[in-house]
Amino acid sequence: MANITVFCRFRPLSSKEKRDNGDSVCIRSMDSETFVFKDEKEEEFAFSFDKVFYEESLQADVYEFLALPIVRGAVNAVNGTIITYGQTGAGKTYSMEGPSILELDDLKKGLLPRVVDGLFECIKSADKSDKYRIKLSMVEIYMEKVRDLLDLTKDNILIKESKVQGILLSGVTEICISDPADALQSLSSGIANRAVGETQMNMASSRSHCIYIFTVQSELSDKRVKTGKLILVDLAGSEKVEKTGAEGKVLEEAKTINKSLSVLGNVINALTCGPTTKASHIPYRDSKLTRILQDALGGNSRTALLCCCSPSPLNAAETLSTLRFGARAKHIKTSPFVNRAQDKLAKKHEDVAPTKDELCERILIRLRERLDVEDVELLEELFILEGILFDPSSFEDLESAYEDVTLRTISSLQQAVEELVFTIEELKSENRALKARMEAAERFNALHKEAGENASVMRKISNILSFFISWVRSFPLLSMLK
Ligand SMILES: Nc1ncnc2c1ncn2[C@@H]1O[C@H](COP(=O)(O)OP(=O)(O)OP(=O)(O)O)[C@@H](O)[C@H]1O
Ligand SMILES: [Mg+2]
Repeated sequence: MANITVFCRFRPLSSKEKRDNGDSVCIRSMDSETFVFKDEKEEEFAFSFDKVFYEESLQADVYEFLALPIVRGAVNAVNGTIITYGQTGAGKTYSMEGPSILELDDLKKGLLPRVVDGLFECIKSADKSDKYRIKLSMVEIYMEKVRDLLDLTKDNILIKESKVQGILLSGVTEICISDPADALQSLSSGIANRAVGETQMNMASSRSHCIYIFTVQSELSDKRVKTGKLILVDLAGSEKVEKTGAEGKVLEEAKTINKSLSVLGNVINALTCGPTTKASHIPYRDSKLTRILQDALGGNSRTALLCCCSPSPLNAAETLSTLRFGARAKHIKTSPFVNRAQDKLAKKHEDVAPTKDELCERILIRLRERLDVEDVELLEELFILEGILFDPSSFEDLESAYEDVTLRTISSLQQAVEELVFTIEELKSENRALKARMEAAERFNALHKEAGENASVMRKISNILSFFISWVRSFPLLSMLK
């Protein structure tokens, strides 16, 4: 287990901050790891991080302390993630790219071009018998959609999870980069596709979270393949809309950015509040950002966080919030390991995405493992009756597909039970009506019978009477009287 390393960087005061508030700053340096921060009410707080980069810090130092160990790890098949976090205009993109990704001034070059140089240098000094290949992917999360910056037709990439490879972006473009110059050209064309807008806080404000993924594959002399993934994340900054003056589309972007950053905060809180048990829920799935960063925040990754801040008292509230976020993140533990070298053939097999049928079969196999054969047969029948279709492309991963099918099965069963209960209620009320009708009929029959009995007595009486009358009439005297 390793803790996330957390660094803090203060950019120089901007000309606007100097104009509005002079040269005053809200921090007092203690040493290279600790400083005292003064909030708006002049209250002081001490903060310590793995390293603090003050206003005059060099881009090269940031790379060396924060990124170099992670770059070396990636070449040795240990996954790594570098995240820049902070308020809008705090220097995240500057730290990541420099003034521009194609910046030639060695002093100003940001982390990205230095990481590219570092990767190729590490490969050069590695065992000559190993063959290396570096692949690059770039995506941005814009308005909660993952867009491929190297192929804009892929504008809603699905996030999947593999047991072996961790979090994956399904179908994302991967290009092989052969040298640093080639890499910078590709990075530059991808960055040109990124959503950027002008706000009152930043002329070139990132309106999306940008994710750069370098995959370093090494083929060892015994033909086995090792893979290390290096992910760099330039987050969009949190913003107070009254300060940025966001309106219309920019306002909508700001709301989405703030929402996903608040989910990131919730994930960090969940990870650092008390012991994390298997059962405790970490809301990774509440945003695309946290889902993609799932490995970086608690999984197989060595992770570094750069908290970028303004030193101006005008931004003290936002700076304090960034510092508190960083202080919390320091407690997160990840479990990076050397990704096991795999047989090239096995690797190839794994790279091939399973077909729809294969996936359905695998889901049913998993159901069979957990349920009786009869249950599974019943479920299959129910699926057919309910018209449940397996559509693997809509599932993020097999695990969620399984959960999804199970949930749908449970809800189908619940529905069936509800229908049954309803039918029983209907039958009961029909039964009651029938019973009432039968009782009425019985009563009627009884009356009818009584009436019938009366009628037969009457008939008998009338028969007797008519017999009597005809008998009386048969007397001669009476005939004469008549
Ligand atoms: N360390 C630094 N040295 C000199 N200038 C800097 C430094 N950090 C940032 N800047 C300048 O500050 C401005 C804002 O920086 P940047 O665009 O990197 O902010 P951001 O954190 O990415 O903001 P957003 O969240 O809006 O994208 C830019 O003009 C940049 O050149
Ligand atoms: Mg930016």
